[in-house]
Amino acid sequence: MQGEIATTVAADWRQAQRIVVLTGAGMSAESGVATFRGARHALWERFDPMQLATAEAFRADSALVWGWYLWRMAAARAAAANAGHRALAALAADKPGCTVVTQNVDDLHERGGSPAVLHLHGDLFAHRCFDCSREYDGDPLIGVDASAPQQRVPPPRCHHCGGPIRPGVVWFGESLPERAFAAALSACERAELVLVIGTSGLVHPAAGLPALAKRQGARIIEINPEASAISSLADLHWRSTAARALPQLRDALA
Ligand code: APR
Repeated sequence: MQGEIATTVAADWRQAQRIVVLTGAGMSAESGVATFRGARHALWERFDPMQLATAEAFRADSALVWGWYLWRMAAARAAAANAGHRALAALAADKPGCTVVTQNVDDLHERGGSPAVLHLHGDLFAHRCFDCSREYDGDPLIGVDASAPQQRVPPPRCHHCGGPIRPGVVWFGESLPERAFAAALSACERAELVLVIGTSGLVHPAAGLPALAKRQGARIIEINPEASAISSLADLHWRSTAARALPQLRDALA
């Protein structure tokens, strides 16, 4: 059964010139990076996003928020790209019209060999000043024990204005990075095929991209071991994981 699906998806991949691959936290799950929903140890099952992932939360207690993101930075840095990241990079390298779009803030796609990934929800390692937005190029993990999620660590201060440094991720209620989102929209408007991998499809506007592509005539294929909010619009739901399905797809195209 899995072999048949891999063959079907390989035919779709071979035929399409303009492809979008949209990934979510499930893409990094097999690297040991926690997802947000659906698993016992998922982040929003254990922590309150309103206390940790909003600008208001940072204003109220920047040490708690910064300490939590240090823990996530350390976990992402300790993780390694998985077979799915590497297979996707190989697939996209042979398909010039393929655009990789991710909701993930880790750098595992890049470390798995994907050179130009559109990050819709920012970058865990792109720190900037909360007040003046100037980039902060220090390495906040140096000399810090970031092994516990609930430690309170006062954020570094901006060298320019003295404001607190914040993580470069998009918090709830904030806008997506304009250039990345515009490029993702444009790619989805022209896509013939969209692979949606490892997302619950619950957080807009990113979650609306597959429906937009479908309205323009794209074929939607979902790779997820579970059903998601995307499943109802998928033309094919490959019930598998990123690190199993993507190498199978690469091998089916070899
Ligand atoms: N391979 C593929 N999919 C997987 C795997 C795996 N190994 N493991 C889990 N999944 C699926 C789950 O079934 C779930 O549908 O990945 C999805 C993860 O969903 P979420 O944890 O909600 O992650 P995501 O959809 O990326 O969240 C979107 O929510 O909190 C915000 O900013 C955060 O970018 C994040 C956004």
